[in-house]
Amino acid sequence: MELLPTAELHIHIEGTLEPEMLVQLAARNGIELPTTDPEAIRARYRFEDLQSFLDLHYGNLRVLRTAEDFYDLAAAYLRRAAGDGVRRAEIFFDPQTHVGNGIPLAAVFDGLGAALAESASLGVSADLILCFLRDRGPQAAHEILRAALPFRDRFIGVGLDSTEVGYPPSLFRDVYAMAAAEGLHRVAHAGEEGGPDYVWEALDVLGVERVDHGIRAMEDASLVRRLREERIPLTVCPLSNVCLRTVDTLADHVLPAMLDEGLAATVNSDDPAYFGGYVGANYEALRTELGLDQTQLATLAMNSFDACFVDEAQKEVWKAEARAAVLAPGPDVAA
Ligand code: ADE
Ligand code: ZN
Repeated sequence: MELLPTAELHIHIEGTLEPEMLVQLAARNGIELPTTDPEAIRARYRFEDLQSFLDLHYGNLRVLRTAEDFYDLAAAYLRRAAGDGVRRAEIFFDPQTHVGNGIPLAAVFDGLGAALAESASLGVSADLILCFLRDRGPQAAHEILRAALPFRDRFIGVGLDSTEVGYPPSLFRDVYAMAAAEGLHRVAHAGEEGGPDYVWEALDVLGVERVDHGIRAMEDASLVRRLREERIPLTVCPLSNVCLRTVDTLADHVLPAMLDEGLAATVNSDDPAYFGGYVGANYEALRTELGLDQTQLATLAMNSFDACFVDEAQKEVWKAEARAAVLAPGPDVAA
């Protein structure tokens, strides 16, 4: 099989900040780091759970100060994505973090937007999804959405991320209604550490079109039926789940069970600078460590294109490319 084309639908641009770039941006912006050795920084990336990751991750984001920094970050991700066979990237960003660090929203949009504007030349179609930080609450979510509306043409949807447990989706009912009224797509992290009730709320209260993670949905048979019958995509992040200890080992992951249940599961990298690899590494781990075969890997890639926020004709073009890659002779590369 040739390199398998895919879409990446669960990628936090801030989570692509590699230690080398962290050091470079800190030097450029006169920010002190505890160490400037990328390998020493990487060695600290051992997490107990989602919160222990978030605490370290948000601290690192102090180095992002200018539009050029955001451009460099997104351009590096898009180059890697192209190399992994990504045809479409729907990229999360956390503007509340940056505004909280004193950065004008325009610098964030200008920098990320400039990188995305060049992505077509890499063969990658890309758009932005603005995420609300659930632990800052619904009022702050309203404020950032209102502040972002002058840039309405620069993002295609809203998402919900950060600390999950204790911040159920229903808190964000009104801001999601406002996003819907603006014609924005809606997704939310749910069922990563939170239980199936968080996934039900994301569907019923927020009206999400995709669920980010959703692995704990597998604990509720009636929810699994709902996800299957409505073909609601799940943006699953296998290496992330291992690193954040939501599963003990990859062998314990529910992704194969999701496929057996006929769910619209997709493969994604979440925060690849921290979790051991980009989307290609996630596909490769599923192949080598979970034993997924080419048919299953191809199903995951097809699901990813079906789940994109693009028109049906474009999805068919990418799916035809994925089908051709599966049929092509050649080195057995997973993604
Ligand atoms: N922000 C970045 N990565 C995240 C994740 N895996 N869950 C929730 N919020 C996040
Ligand atoms: Zn995520």
